[in-house]
Parts: sequence; C-alpha cells; structure tokens
Amino acid sequence: MKLPDKVKIVEVAPRDGLQNEPRQVPAEIKVALIERLAASGLRVIEAGSFVAPKWVPQMAASAEVFAALKKRNGISYPMLVPNQRGLESALAAGVEEIAVFAAASESFTRKNINCSISESLERYREVIGAALTHGVRVRGYVSCVLGCPYEGEIDPAAVAYVAARLFEMGCYEISLGDTIGTGTPLRTQRMLSRVMEGVAAEHLAAHFHDTYGQALANLLAALQLGIATIDSSVAGLGGCPYAKGASGNVASEDVVYMLDGMGIESGVDLQLLVAAGSYICNFLGRPNGSRVARAMQAAR
Ligand code: HMG
Ligand code: MG
Repeated sequence: MKLPDKVKIVEVAPRDGLQNEPRQVPAEIKVALIERLAASGLRVIEAGSFVAPKWVPQMAASAEVFAALKKRNGISYPMLVPNQRGLESALAAGVEEIAVFAAASESFTRKNINCSISESLERYREVIGAALTHGVRVRGYVSCVLGCPYEGEIDPAAVAYVAARLFEMGCYEISLGDTIGTGTPLRTQRMLSRVMEGVAAEHLAAHFHDTYGQALANLLAALQLGIATIDSSVAGLGGCPYAKGASGNVASEDVVYMLDGMGIESGVDLQLLVAAGSYICNFLGRPNGSRVARAMQAAR
C-alpha cells in the first residue's frame, strides 16, 4: 500500500484542546500559543469557535483571539460555527474559513448542538451556502465516527451518509472524528472504506482522539488508505464538553515524530512544536500529554 509523501496537519489545540478547560484561558495566552504553533511550521490552526457562550464558556473570547492574530500568507485559522448566528460573527470578524460540525449519532448531535441529525444538516445547508457566497471556505466535521458516548458503536453507513451530505453541500474537506477514541485500526479502515464510496480520500481528514491509546495505530491505518490530512492537538490537549471520555486528541508532537520517522513530510519543526506544547502545559499547570514531548524533555 502506498503511503502519502506529504501530510497536512490541522492543529486543533486552541479550539478542541482548550474548549473543555474549566479555568478560563485568557485571550493573550491563546494568541501566544497560536503564534508559537505557526512558528513551528503548522499552516492550518483552528483558532476558536463562535458557539453559544452558555454552552462552551471557554470559547467566548474567540473574536478577540482571531482579531489579535498576525495574519500571515499561507496560514489558515478556521473557526467553528454551529449556526447562522455563528456565521454572522465569523463574517464580522473577517474569518476566511469556518468549520461546521455534525455527527453520525443522533444522541450526540442532540447533546452537542441541540437538534437532530437531519435538522443539523438543514441548518448547515444554509450556513454553508451563505459562507460560500461570501467567499468563506467551509470544512465539515462528522463526530462519533467509531463510537458514541451515548449509543456505543456507530454504523459506518451513518458516517458515510453525513459525510457525503456535507461534501455535497460544499465542504472542501470532511474531518472524521473518533470523538471518544474507541476505534481500532481494522474498524477504522472499514469505516473509511465505506465513507470513501462517497467522498474521495483527498477530501477526508482523520481526527482521532487517543483516549484508549489507539490514535497513532488508527492514523497509520488511515494513511494506508490514502488519507493525507490529520487533525491533532499539541501536548495531546483536548476533549469535548458533550462527550464524556473524549480526553485528549492525538498529540501533534507524536504525529510529527511518526511522520518524520516514516519519511513523510509535514513541514513542521518538532523542536519548535515541543516548545509550543511546553508553553501551554506550563500555563495550565499540567503534565504534557505527548509521549514524544516527554521523551525529548527527559533526554535533554
Ligand atoms: P440552543 O440553546 O438550541 O440555541 O443551542 P438557541 O438558538 O436557542 O440559543 C440559545 C442561546 O445561545 C441564546 O442566548 C442565543 O442567542 C445564543 P440567550 O438568548 O439565551 O441569551 N446563541 C449564540 N451565541 C453566540 N454564538 C452563537 C449562538 N447561537 C445561539 N453562534 C447551539 C444551539 C448550537 C447554539 C449550542 O448547542 C452550541 O453552541 N453548541 C456548541 C457545542 C460545542 O461547541 N461543542 C464542541 C465542538 S464539537 C467537537 O468538539 C467535536 C469535534 O472536535 C470533532 C470530534 O472530536 O469528534 C469538532
Ligand atoms: Mg475533537
């Protein structure tokens, strides 16, 4: 099986990584983190979300964070948007890329965005159409692709259905989220093969959480099927407020180390990435969730 020569990493720590932090992280710390991530070579960094602050208080200052970022050529800072109101905030902020987030599980969709899957798709049809009219690119998420905290295992056909609808509506890329990290490699490949009947590998991204320590193995399984976009979070930060057990995205440092070791280009400097992870872990006062970062620090 031919592995991709290059992989695009979508760094999600400032959004997915921090959204579940109980203590409010000030905007200037988020900005300093994002600038460090950009300096490491990352070219897509999710910077925040325009969601209801009652639902996710940590993301309340996302407009402030976005406004303070140095906009460099070639770096994209997507922001999550759940509805028309969120899109209006994104447009007012001058955001050039948004992400809408659906799920393959009815229960999770209800808990996360307070509607059914079909209502969410109707809502997103309008949001995506309006965003594209304004020249804003749209990425689509499908959560719970390998398991749901409320419904258990998810049928790959349900994932394929939601992914194909979002793609038809105009999302340029569909990110498939193993939100609670219960997947294993062969199940990952079965799910991806089913999704790829409707959306080609070049338009798919793997967004895996490492809750059960399976994320790198699942990513290798995805790379083997030609997926060349990986979402990850520096220091393994992460979690979803509406998915108990969604502790930790795969760590960006671990992904870059694996890719470097396989001769797959990511454009990211591992040392600078480790420094960015240390910066935010020091602020949060917690151990680094990246095995690679811990090993490199211990070897110094
Ligand atoms: P709702 O309560 O049904 O909405 O929530 P509503 O329209 O009735 O509004 C309720 C209140 O929120 C109102 O304020 C609205 O104005 C306000 P009030 O009148 O009560 O003071 N409101 C907003 N405020 C700011 N921005 C907005 C907005 N919309 C409404 N855009 C809603 C529905 C979708 C708003 C809510 O459920 C929500 O915000 N959910 C977001 C949940 C979230 O952010 N989850 C984490 C991201 S998903 C994830 O992490 C998974 C992922 O990483 C992939 C993976 O790992 O699988 C992407
Ligand atoms: Mg996530």
